[in-house]
Amino acid sequence: MKSKIYYIVVGLFALLALAGCQGSDGALVVATDAAFPPFEYVDEETKDIIGFDIDLMNAIAEEANLDIEFKNVAWDPLLAGMADCQYDMAISAITILPERAEQFSFSDPYINAGQIITVAVDNDTVTSPDDLVGAIIGAQLGTTGAMEVEEIPDATLKTYDTYELAFLDLMNGQVDAVIADYPTAVAFVNMNSDDLKVVGDVFTDEYYGIAFCKGNDELISQVNDALAALQAEGFIDELVNTWYGDSN
Ligand code: ARG
Repeated sequence: MKSKIYYIVVGLFALLALAGCQGSDGALVVATDAAFPPFEYVDEETKDIIGFDIDLMNAIAEEANLDIEFKNVAWDPLLAGMADCQYDMAISAITILPERAEQFSFSDPYINAGQIITVAVDNDTVTSPDDLVGAIIGAQLGTTGAMEVEEIPDATLKTYDTYELAFLDLMNGQVDAVIADYPTAVAFVNMNSDDLKVVGDVFTDEYYGIAFCKGNDELISQVNDALAALQAEGFIDELVNTWYGDSN
């Protein structure tokens, strides 16, 4: 016969597992790496997390009647945490990739935003990935931007915990270029237009999805229904206009 202690310990673990994802008052925890304007970033004055994804997730929560709470988590632990079901959801401009879909589930896509090259304003030699052969290129660790750098022959990838650090290094001449999602590249260029510029065309197609801990099928379909309704209302187009419309 199993001891009382055994049942208490098992019971405690079960409770912990159940409570694992829950925020205060049982709210669903939505992880976001709030260092990626215009999708998710911290407002310098109010210290609130704001952006396209935050507005979208709040609208979804309202539409689907979900109680949510954002948690600011760095990109690398965010992806690992989703694979471990540490959070219920994540919205973080996450490109839907087959290898990621093995680790966690995705909603239907909500936007297409591919990669673009950013260089110093006085750089006149780079307009496409072909011009970056052998270059030193910055990107945030574990992003599709970093994956694209790895496709460029003889290029050296320099990774950063945030894109902000990558763009800083570009301004300081430590890298030749940064490859990033174009709305984010444009956001950083707009903040530093004396030093940086985007060049050439968006050269990948990438669809963003909301991530879920695997097996949460009911929540996924609630969120997909809400997304479809918001799309039909034109709400997503409105968000594009609000947060980066002038960069299209
Ligand atoms: N879309 C790119 C990817 O999925 C970059 C996303 C980075 N997002 C962030 N919040 N840091 O790899």
